[in-house]
Amino acid sequence: MKEGFSKLTKKEKIDWVIKTFFKSDSKSFDILKKYWNDDNSIQTIHDEFAENTITNFYLPLGVAPNFIIDKINYTIPMAIEESSVVAAACNSAKFWSKRGGFKSTIINTIKTGQIHFKFNGSSKKINDLFNSIKNKLKDSCKEITKNMNERGGGIINIKLLDKTKSIKNYFQIAVEFDTVDSMGANFINSCLEQIALSFEKEFNESNIFNESEKLKIIMSILSNYTPECVVKVELKTKISNLKSKDISDPENFAKKFIEAVEIAEKDISRAVTHNKGIMNGIDAVVIATGNDFRAVEAAIHAYASKDGSYKSLTRAKIENDEFIYWIEIPISVGTVGGIINLHPMVKWCLSLLQQPNSKQLMSIIGAAGLAQNFSAIKSLITSGIQVGHMKMHLINILNSLGANECEKTKIIEYFKKNKVTFNSVKTALEKLRKNEL
Ligand code: MEV
Repeated sequence: MKEGFSKLTKKEKIDWVIKTFFKSDSKSFDILKKYWNDDNSIQTIHDEFAENTITNFYLPLGVAPNFIIDKINYTIPMAIEESSVVAAACNSAKFWSKRGGFKSTIINTIKTGQIHFKFNGSSKKINDLFNSIKNKLKDSCKEITKNMNERGGGIINIKLLDKTKSIKNYFQIAVEFDTVDSMGANFINSCLEQIALSFEKEFNESNIFNESEKLKIIMSILSNYTPECVVKVELKTKISNLKSKDISDPENFAKKFIEAVEIAEKDISRAVTHNKGIMNGIDAVVIATGNDFRAVEAAIHAYASKDGSYKSLTRAKIENDEFIYWIEIPISVGTVGGIINLHPMVKWCLSLLQQPNSKQLMSIIGAAGLAQNFSAIKSLITSGIQVGHMKMHLINILNSLGANECEKTKIIEYFKKNKVTFNSVKTALEKLRKNEL
């Protein structure tokens, strides 16, 4: 047990870790050091984002150009380590840029939080109290909501929910918020904690309850489930327009595509992988724009099960000779606040996106997810996924085998016409080194 670790200096923390787990090996220290930023001001920002920071952890930042979303041409930043994801996004974006692009609709932008409490008395009485103090509860947050109100947001609604059928004596005060361009987690939680305090005070000062009727606040917290903060992004084209280099028979392609989506709608084994592919695109943009990818992931997967079983997040159909394909997902993100105004790369990524507001960012993220799914299904129902995946992964295999730059160039050329597997690459590299390739 290491006591007081968080109180040590950064150097002391590193010394302890290297001594305890790496037998004071200087090479282990060097690796940590290599990832420090030379610019001290940038390093300090990163050190201060989290507790016990000892170095930085990089992800590659790729860009995917040619995304036409609501008639605006975006180049989308993507922070991701999986080799084929950015290439897949680029392919889809280019394909659909010639077919009308992505069209988005913001369905709603409401976020919620709850005060969970127990009350062992009359439902009617707690309802009466709540209704008589509802506006007072909202007003008690005035100091916290002042700036948000000025920006056009704030508390939209407060209601009392009787949950006693699910848990004995369990009630909720459910609060709806508009947080405009911020993700708003701190704002929501501060309002909820204030409302909980005010509610408790009003309860204690009220004379409608008898001695045995007790209130116990359990907790106050935002919900990351945001089924009312939803974007829909759609792609649509005449079936014949799908014809392209990889799609020789558009009608057959459209039908098979719809069958593949239907399987993901009905079968959980496929649905999870299908949605994982969508999250490849979504997470990459959420991370690059400094948003909370764990929150977005949690909300989206819960939304995928909203009808009682876990389903595909995308849908496709043919109507009047048109191929129509869309995604509908909850995305609670911000373009101000949090680390967004602090992280230099996040600021850069938002500049690349021409400083979108949070609704535009919802559309961009939705489009990135849909694009990713389109590329994946297109490959799966035509060439299979591995040709493209292994081509993209080739460079990782070469790096893991210690190939130098000249060897990499020659081997990449060789595998333009040969099948990539770990063994085929290893053999080719060995042959090259013996001048036999
Ligand atoms: C790989 O990261 C993602 C895919 O498996 C998605 C899918 O199968 O739809 C290719």
